[in-house]
Parts: sequence; structure tokens; C-alpha cells
Amino acid sequence: MTAKVFVTRKIPDAGLELLAREVGGFDMNKEDRTLGKSELIDLVRGREAVLCLLNDAVDADVIAAADNCRVIANYAVGYDNIDVAAATGRGIAVTNTPGVLTDATADLAWALLMSAARSIVPGDRFTRSGGFSGWAPMLFLGADVAGRTLGIVGAGRIGTAVAMRSAGFGMRVLYTSRSVNEKMEVKLGARRVDLDTLLRESDFVSLHVPLTPQTRHLLGRREFGLMKKTAVLVNTSRGPVIKEAALVEALRAGELFAAGLDVYEDEPSLCPGLAELDNAVLMPHVGSGTVATRSKMAEMAAANIVAVLKGRKPANCVNPAVL
Ligand code: GLV
Ligand code: GLV
Repeated sequence: MTAKVFVTRKIPDAGLELLAREVGGFDMNKEDRTLGKSELIDLVRGREAVLCLLNDAVDADVIAAADNCRVIANYAVGYDNIDVAAATGRGIAVTNTPGVLTDATADLAWALLMSAARSIVPGDRFTRSGGFSGWAPMLFLGADVAGRTLGIVGAGRIGTAVAMRSAGFGMRVLYTSRSVNEKMEVKLGARRVDLDTLLRESDFVSLHVPLTPQTRHLLGRREFGLMKKTAVLVNTSRGPVIKEAALVEALRAGELFAAGLDVYEDEPSLCPGLAELDNAVLMPHVGSGTVATRSKMAEMAAANIVAVLKGRKPANCVNPAVL
């Protein structure tokens, strides 16, 4: 028998146990891999709920196939992989997992920032491979972090958490945001500026905007040209916010000091040239990837499904008009 709920790939047990207990079970992709579009279309048919991942493209075709669906629960805070308008048109609730992954993602942004500033990855490689032949005055000279200017592009939950961590480094904080961020202004003396000003004045730029038509290619050749040659760029948001080919060019030409990336324009592919750059630190989209955080995300996504199937309001609906 086909279960009411379909899970597109194995997630932590906390979420699966909740589904088993509260809605009488689920079907799950048995293989530990992302499903293709036609597989997804076949597997969502007749389901009342789908628990999906950020790399499942839940487009209008998939949503049309999900003819009996009431809720699509994304196992992520970002939901640019889902055609929310198409879901709304069919009265399907779309939910995400905000809040629980804020700290883990902010921690990773800082890990990338520090790694890029101090060449941790090339330094490790150098040391391990026997390159270290004694202390040297000019070995792996990096960028200072303390006292410098941090630019936060998109001051939502994660951007704010990244900014708050800068207090320990005594940094000046600039940010862009649709609205004033009182916490950052009061606690850090942060200043809201336009993007060009932020790019010109920041030593570290960290991206925290959702991917939308407005933020696609927000940073490209022109923007890298505005940044300091000594600047470090960090991206833990979504790859397409950056024009990756332009970033490769800028890093190669020394127009930027370094970059720390967790996301890519055409994941999982990397733009040609990126992997060859020593001044780029590259992580495989693991911002929320801690044991505890992924468990909380699994529970949250499952709880959103349970709520809708039991006729309650899900806690994290991104299209509440359908409820
Ligand atoms: C991760 O990228 C997320 O959106 O949760
Ligand atoms: C995402 O959770 C954000 O608002 O930054």
C-alpha cells in the first residue's frame, strides 16, 4: 500500500519516528541519492504530503503530479527549489525549517571567514605534505579580522547571528536589509547602508539573502570591482546570488583576497577554475550540517506535515494564504 507521506531521501530518525508515530508511516526513497525529476513525479502521485530536500526541484510539473497533496515540507530554511506560486495555486501548504539552523549556519560562515582570512586549508596541505621547513617571516601572511569592518548582506536571522558573533572581534558592522535591524544597531552599533557602500567599505562581506529573482547575481564583476583588493567574501546562502565565473576571475586576478564558499551557482558542479584557486575555501553545502541541527530540522519538517494532515496550522508555513 502507498503511504500518505513520501520522504524524498533519508533524513535523521527524529523526523521519521515522528511521522511513523503520528501519521501512521511513510514511504521513503530507499537509496541515499537525489531523485530525478521523472522519479519524483512518479513518487509524489497520490500523496497527501511530501518531505523534500533543497536539491529536489519541486517545480510546476512535480506539483501538478502531486494531485492529492496538502503539504510540501522542505527540509531547509531556503525554499527557492519549490515553485511556491504553483503550490499556492493548488492549495498546497509549503513549509520550511527556520530558526533551528541559524546558529549552525552562522558558525560555518565564521569558519569560512577565518579559514579564508588565514589560509587554513592551503596551510594544512602545505604542512602535511612536508612543506614546512621552519618558521619564516613571510609564510602564509593573512588578513586581520579583529577591528575590521564586517558587511552583512541580508540581515535576517542568520545574518544577524553572524553579525552578533563579530562582537568578540571588535568589528565595525555594516548591513543591507529591507528594514532596520534594531538588535544589530543597538547591540553592535551596526549601520544600514546601500550595497555599493557596504562593498566599498567592508573587509569581510558575508551573504545571507534568500535566492529570489531580485538577488540572483546580486554580486558580479561590477560589484567585485567595488570591493577592496584585501576583502574576503563569504557565501553560505545560495550559489546563484554570486555570478561564479566573475568571482573566479576576481580571485584569480587578485581583485579580492579570498572567498569562503558553501554554495555554488550550479550545485554540485563548480565553475571551471574555482577548484584550482588556493584563495578559495570550498565546503559542500553543509551550513546546517551538525548532528543536533539536522535532527531538529527533521523533526520540524515532520511536525509541519503532521500538523497539516491533522488539520492544524503548521508552525512554519511560507504561503499561509492556503491555510
Ligand atoms: C540550507 O541551505 C537551507 O536552506 O536550509
Ligand atoms: C534565515 O533563516 C534567515 O532569515 O536568515
